Amino acid sequence: MWSEWRPRRILSRPSAANAASGKLRWVKFTVIATCAGLVLVALFANFLWVSSYRALLPKWPGSSVSFSGPASGSSASSIENKKNVYSFLEESSVYLDWEEMAPAPVDRLDGAAIQIGNLFYVFAGYQNINEVHSHVDIYDLSENKWGDRFDMPQDMAHSHLGMASDGRYIYIVTGQYGPQCRGPTAKNFVLDTKTRRWSKLPPLPNPRYAPATQLWRGRLHVMGGSKEDRWQPALEHWSLAVKDGKALETEWKPELPIPRGGPHRACIVVEDRLYVIGGQEGDFKAKPGSPIFKCSRQKEVVYSDVYMLEGEAKEWKILPPMPKPDSHIEFAWALVNDSIVIVGGTTEKNPVTKRMVLVGEVFDFNLKTQKWRTLGRMPIRIKTTLVAFWDGWLYFTSGQRDKGPNDPSPKKVIGKTWRTKLDLSQ
Ligand SMILES: *[C@@H]1O[C@H](CO)[C@@H](O)[C@H](O)[C@H]1NC(C)=O
Repeated sequence: MWSEWRPRRILSRPSAANAASGKLRWVKFTVIATCAGLVLVALFANFLWVSSYRALLPKWPGSSVSFSGPASGSSASSIENKKNVYSFLEESSVYLDWEEMAPAPVDRLDGAAIQIGNLFYVFAGYQNINEVHSHVDIYDLSENKWGDRFDMPQDMAHSHLGMASDGRYIYIVTGQYGPQCRGPTAKNFVLDTKTRRWSKLPPLPNPRYAPATQLWRGRLHVMGGSKEDRWQPALEHWSLAVKDGKALETEWKPELPIPRGGPHRACIVVEDRLYVIGGQEGDFKAKPGSPIFKCSRQKEVVYSDVYMLEGEAKEWKILPPMPKPDSHIEFAWALVNDSIVIVGGTTEKNPVTKRMVLVGEVFDFNLKTQKWRTLGRMPIRIKTTLVAFWDGWLYFTSGQRDKGPNDPSPKKVIGKTWRTKLDLSQ
C-alpha cells in the first residue's frame, strides 16, 4: 500500500522532470500518479468521514460487528459468496407497489403493536440503543394519521414484550426492562383501550425475553422466548385464564412445552389453532460486569420452523417451513382472508462477513392449502416491523432498516410507514 505513495515524492522534484529524456513517458507517469494520489486521498477522506460519522451514532450492535467491506477489486465470485443461500429468493421477486405514509411520531425498534379495528396501537421500543420509549402512539388507519399518545405504566417493559388482544383489552406480558441488553421483567399488564386504564396481571413464573404470546380458548398463552440472560432459549409454555381484562386465576398453569425455544416469533390463533412461526435461538446479551448492560453479540440461529397446536391435542404439529429462516417478526404479521401475511425480518447471517441479514420480502401462508409464497419485495429490508391490514391495504411501520439496496445488514432505526394494496388472489 505505502509503495504507491512513492510517485508523489518523485513528483515533488520538478527538476528531475526537466532532465528526463522521454517527456511523453513522464506526462503519462504524472497522469497515472496524480490519479493514484487522488484515489488514495479520496479513500482516506472517506475512511475519516465514515469513522467520524460512526462515532456520532449510538453504537448499534450487529451493524458494527464487521464493518470493513471487501478489498476493492475482489472478484465477482467472492462477492457472490458474500450472500447467504436465500438471497436468490429476494432477487427473484418483484417490488410491490408501496405508498409512503406519514411517519410515526418517534423512531422505534423492538416495540409492539396491536390493531383494533381502524386503530393501530404502537407500544414502547428503543429510540436508539441507549434510549427506550415508555408510551403508546396510535395510528388511525381510516384517516391515515398518527394521533393520540399516552404513557405506559412506569414498571412495564420497554421492548421485546409479548402482546395479545381480544378486541378491547390488550394483554401485555414480560419483556425487556430498560435500554441496551438489560434483562426481562416478569410483570404483566392489561390495557382497556376503551377507558385507557391500565391494570395488572399475576407475574409470570419466570421473566421472558420476546416470548410468543396469544389468547387461545379463553386463556392467555406465553411460550418460548429467551430466559433472563436474553440468550438461552426457553421451552416453557404457560397459560392464565382471562376474561374482560381480568385474570380468573392467581397463578399461571404449565402447558405443553414448545419443541423449539427462542425469541422473535409470530404467534397467531385462527379457528381454534395456535400457530408459532419462525424465530431464533440465542440473541445479544449483556457484557458481563458492564454497568450499562452493554450489548454483546452472541451465537444465534435463525429458523423457518412452523409449529401448530390444535384444540385438545397433546403434541405440537410441525407444518411446512417458511420460504427462508425468518426472525424478529413478532408483530410483523397480519391475518388476511385464509392467509397469514409476514413482512420482513432477519434471516441467516452473511456466511462471510457474519453480519446480520435483513429480510425484504412479504410472505404468505395459506392456512387452507398449507403453502407458503413470496408475495413480493418491500421498499427496504427491515426487521421488527409493526404490521396492520385495513380496507385492502397492508401497512408496516418502524423497525431497523438495511444499509441500502446492496447491503442487507442493519443500520438506521426508523419510524417510517408504508402501505401496499394487497391481493392474495393470484
Ligand atoms: C379476500 O377475500 C375477498 C372475498 O373473496 C376478496 O374480495 C378480497 O380481495 C380478498 N383479499 C385479498 C387481500 O386478497
